[in-house]
Amino acid sequence: MNTTVGFIGGGRVTRIILSGLKKADALPKDVAVYDPNPDALVLTSKLFPEAACTDRMDIPASKDFVFLAVHPPIMDDVLSTLKDFLKDNTLIISLAPRWTIGAMSEKMGGYRRIVRMIPNAPSQVNAGYNPVAFSDAVGSDAKKAFRELVAKLGDSPEVAEQTLEAYAILTAMGPTYLWFQFLALQELGRSFGLSADDASAAIFRMVTGTAETLFESGLSPSEVLDLIPVTPLKHEEETIREIYRTNLQELYRKLTG
Ligand SMILES: NC(=O)c1ccc[n+]([C@@H]2O[C@H](COP(=O)([O-])OP(=O)(O)OC[C@H]3O[C@@H](n4cnc5c(N)ncnc54)[C@H](OP(=O)(O)O)[C@@H]3O)[C@@H](O)[C@H]2O)c1
Repeated sequence: MNTTVGFIGGGRVTRIILSGLKKADALPKDVAVYDPNPDALVLTSKLFPEAACTDRMDIPASKDFVFLAVHPPIMDDVLSTLKDFLKDNTLIISLAPRWTIGAMSEKMGGYRRIVRMIPNAPSQVNAGYNPVAFSDAVGSDAKKAFRELVAKLGDSPEVAEQTLEAYAILTAMGPTYLWFQFLALQELGRSFGLSADDASAAIFRMVTGTAETLFESGLSPSEVLDLIPVTPLKHEEETIREIYRTNLQELYRKLTG
């Protein structure tokens, strides 16, 4: 791909995206990453020697696609500095929740070639679910080029901008609700005498098949729940549901408030 790509912020999500692109053999030839944290630069450049990792923001900021991979409280500063480096055709792709296209545009003196994407970590293995919303100033050619790049990361459905924070809770943070449970099962499997590989393979297939049965079998949720008569965690289910409701509704309020 000939499009040049820059990242402002060289932390986890930048490494996830670069890993997914590299795995798909789709790393653009010209990639630059800026981060003020030297540790992040060292780690990212070790993993991606193809990328120019730098402590100068102007280098990635002058690329065709500029990903904003910083936390929401940092966006104010980043956008104020970035606006001086923009070219006419720069496409800005924000990965941060909270900051709307309108608010980002205002901070950058009315610049509107902006995309928002809420990626998730499975993009690392090209199995991401990465909803996107485009500003109306992003034309069809730019959309096409952007889609071509992110298609390698997984699914990237176009959604209404105001739904992105819901996806931040469900799909961006979603893996964190589940990974520790898979690992707890793997540890149990080992304690029952399975090898780590056999336990992982079994859990992997169980998890993918479980989601498929619930969402794609054609059975109703109650019919699915009734497929297994023994439910060893039954007494804890309401507590777990309540933990989800309390923690995640509060987080959603923070992201949208
Ligand atoms: N990780 C995910 O799976 C994921 C998924 C969806 C969306 N996102 C979003 O992506 C954004 C970044 O998340 P992350 O997971 O990559 O976090 P992260 O690993 O903490 O990386 C953020 C990086 O930005 C650096 N930074 C701080 N100030 C900066 C500045 N002024 N300019 C450029 N970089 C600066 C940080 O350095 P310091 O550590 O020194 O502060 C850090 O290296 C967040 O808005 C997050 O919500 C992440």
